[in-house]
Amino acid sequence: MAFSPAFLDELVARNPIEDVVGQYVSLKRSGANLFGLCPFHGEKTASFSVSPDKGIYYCFGCHKGGGVVNFMMEIEGLSYPDAVRALAKRAGLEMPEDDQYQSQYRQQERLWALMKEAARFFHATLYEPAGARGLAYAQKRGMSKGTLTRFGIGFAPDAWHSLIDAMRQKGYTDQELKDAGLVSEKGGRMYDRFRNRLMFPIIDVRGNVIGFGGRVMDDATPKYLNSPETLIFNKRRNLFGLNLAKKSKLGYLILVEGYMDAIALHQYGFDCAVASLGTSLTENHATLLSRYTDQVVLIYDGDEAGQTATRRAIPMLEKVGLRVRVLRMREAKDPDEYLRRFGADKFKVLLEEASNRVEYQLQAIQRKYDLKEDEQRVRFIQEAAELLCTLDSAVSREVYGVRAAEAAGISYDAMKLETDKAFRRRLGREKKRQERIDLAPAQNLRPKSRSIQYENMKSAMAEEEALSLILRDPTLLEQVPDLTGEQFSVPLLGRVFDQLRLRRQQGLEISLAVLTELNQEETSHLAGILQRQQGAVNEQALRDCASIIRDQHQAGRVKTPRDLLELRNQLKERKGYEA
Ligand code: UTP
Ligand code: MN
Repeated sequence: MAFSPAFLDELVARNPIEDVVGQYVSLKRSGANLFGLCPFHGEKTASFSVSPDKGIYYCFGCHKGGGVVNFMMEIEGLSYPDAVRALAKRAGLEMPEDDQYQSQYRQQERLWALMKEAARFFHATLYEPAGARGLAYAQKRGMSKGTLTRFGIGFAPDAWHSLIDAMRQKGYTDQELKDAGLVSEKGGRMYDRFRNRLMFPIIDVRGNVIGFGGRVMDDATPKYLNSPETLIFNKRRNLFGLNLAKKSKLGYLILVEGYMDAIALHQYGFDCAVASLGTSLTENHATLLSRYTDQVVLIYDGDEAGQTATRRAIPMLEKVGLRVRVLRMREAKDPDEYLRRFGADKFKVLLEEASNRVEYQLQAIQRKYDLKEDEQRVRFIQEAAELLCTLDSAVSREVYGVRAAEAAGISYDAMKLETDKAFRRRLGREKKRQERIDLAPAQNLRPKSRSIQYENMKSAMAEEEALSLILRDPTLLEQVPDLTGEQFSVPLLGRVFDQLRLRRQQGLEISLAVLTELNQEETSHLAGILQRQQGAVNEQALRDCASIIRDQHQAGRVKTPRDLLELRNQLKERKGYEA
């Protein structure tokens, strides 16, 4: 993606990293840096740093980092050009005309427009003769007229070319229909992907139709056919219903498994329900939810799969700082069925009683054991203690300790003793883990990602420091006129060095934020280097680094047979004798 360097310099200058990050993370100053809770992984102590001077952010916990553009990409899930566009808009900068970018953005806009047209087509069909069966089915499932409108429910006719014909008439090309995932192909012939199905549009938080789920009206399989992943549709980053739920006044979000569950909840007044899109919950989903609420009620189906999914989801949601409550479905297989059978009032009671995750987990442990049997009771007490000792608050430890003790028929003191023991065991385990980390310092210096390799540690450390010095004071480059990226042992660092030298020669800004040819992993890696190196910036330091790099390069070169040959030839010439 080619934006002019001058434009990017301006963009970065007009979007101070501390301001941009500050819109998402509350930051506190500490020396030259600002610190806050990392928005990319769950944590309770602030290891996320922002350096206004260096123009970077870096998390010492999850090792994500980069400049202001990378931050926008990461936090908003944007592509590089879209992140640039968002920042340009933020700073009131005019976007330069760039054909490649324009065409990609235009392609996205065309797909959004096409999907919206398709949704309109399906929705209109619902009220036409071709959609009569769909409307009847929707009504049988209890969807009100208002619900059909609010969710834009539609019907895909039982035919091969209905949508294709309608969209062609609107001026969309076959290629665009393919790119949107609305058609299938066989033997070079295109036909409608969705046929004879009740259609659920999937709408992102900005209101764009990005995909569809289509349900059969009988027992055929697959029950739901979903849009494939496209330029605009990513299941792992979107949630069904969030476009509506984000406006809810209820103050929490309900996360369910099925489209139908989310829809029923809305219809019965719980307008804060969202559903994942037929995939298990991802970290992206958790982060997305945390942007709109601090409390989530998990309602997964009562079956084994639903309970497994619940166990998996709890830590993911807590990791991003969400308070989690769990509602275990009983007497019905899912919320949709429950609401239809028992109504909203009874559901509200369930919701109010919905236990927090500790209670839920305690119950889950309790169900595993037969507490009338002594041996099983002991195992229950031990497992409960393992759970209790992970709780940070003394009050919760007591509240749930009492509950566990009651269940096991022992005194609270005995339960507490067991919990303290479990706590010490856990402490011991963590200490050992920490020791392992401390005992392997060299290992810690190695890159966190496997695709960046340090083979010559001595040279690599000098290379890291050299880059860090130059990024802090670009004028230092004049001190090492002979150093070239080719002499670096780590190709990535050498490449960056050459880029910095070139930018300096062209009189451009030098900062990590403006280096564009790096991928996310490489950018994070460099941000880490920059944030770790805090030594003094001086000319001698850089010259020292350069001499190490050159020496190691020379030494390293002698290793290959080819180099040996070359060295021998050089010696021959210089000394004038036969070896
Ligand atoms: P469910 O089978 O629980 O669906 O699957 P549901 O929403 O309750 O639908 P009804 O009540 O049977 O009509 C949960 C979710 O899993 C995904 C869909 O997102 C569905 O809402 N799924 C399920 C698929 O993507 N494909 C399938 O074939 C089945
Ligand atoms: Mn269902």
